[in-house]
Amino acid sequence: MSVIENSTLAIVGAGSVGTATAYAAMIRGSARHVRLYDVDAARVEAEVLDLAHGSQFTGASDIDGGADLKHVEGADVVVITAGAKQHPGQTRLDLAGTNVEILRSMLPKLLERAPEAVYLLVTNPCDVLTVAAQQISGLPSGRVFSSGTVLDTARLRWKLARRAGVAQSSVHAHIVGEHGDTEFPLWSAASIGVTPLLDWEREGARVFSADELDTLSDEVRHAAYQVIAGKGTTNYAIGLSATRIVEAILHDEHAILPVSSVLDGFLDISGVALSIPSVVSARGVQPVTTTPFSEHEAESLRSSAQALVEVQSSLGL
Ligand code: 2OP
Repeated sequence: MSVIENSTLAIVGAGSVGTATAYAAMIRGSARHVRLYDVDAARVEAEVLDLAHGSQFTGASDIDGGADLKHVEGADVVVITAGAKQHPGQTRLDLAGTNVEILRSMLPKLLERAPEAVYLLVTNPCDVLTVAAQQISGLPSGRVFSSGTVLDTARLRWKLARRAGVAQSSVHAHIVGEHGDTEFPLWSAASIGVTPLLDWEREGARVFSADELDTLSDEVRHAAYQVIAGKGTTNYAIGLSATRIVEAILHDEHAILPVSSVLDGFLDISGVALSIPSVVSARGVQPVTTTPFSEHEAESLRSSAQALVEVQSSLGL
């Protein structure tokens, strides 16, 4: 992939997710300049050094960073990964209070340094933080959005592709809604190639039953819990997901990805950020409001919205 001339990606937070995002961005050549910022000077300087030491073997990206906000200056895209992370036994929504407060103190300073940037929230609960970030910044909702269910969709496609015996790129299926416990697959529109999922055959036999699809969707919903129980965090796949979104922005791709932005009347939902397939370009994000939802799926999206409204109300959002 060609690197956009002089594009700057600033990553806020040098924890496991921020550094995995920087590492993925360097290897994929997602931006010309990759910058890592964190308030912990010792940590961020060590991470930047470690990444820089390997830069001979990556694309054209150069890496720099530190505890000074100058590293965010003039960024085209700011990816926010800073905040408390989910521990075993916690849901993403349990982090809302702490991480909204961090955002309230940090975002105005980032906006001063990178007023023209597109802001991508990765910190959880990313849907709630997107609403908070939009309110704090006053930016148009297209310029402040979150990675949403891009990762969950990747998890789903990985599973479906293995079962179906096809490449992941030939699986057309999306997880939508909250990036969290109320997310769900849009089965009504899912296909492999142009074959509806339930009709897909392997060696003459149907591969998927309705029960199996339910199991797969439960597994995707619980995937992060499984990883966190084993290693304390999820970082590589979210780092790759975030860089994929960054590339769609910097390359002005108009790619359709299930990112989460504040909805304005979609299926009568407003003021809540949820993932639906959305066009991602240099201008930011535009939800595809013609996305077909069955009755049942529309009801599930409204349940996702309701779960988030309750958390937002408790935080005064
Ligand atoms: C994930 O889904 C924890 O939100 C993070 O991996």
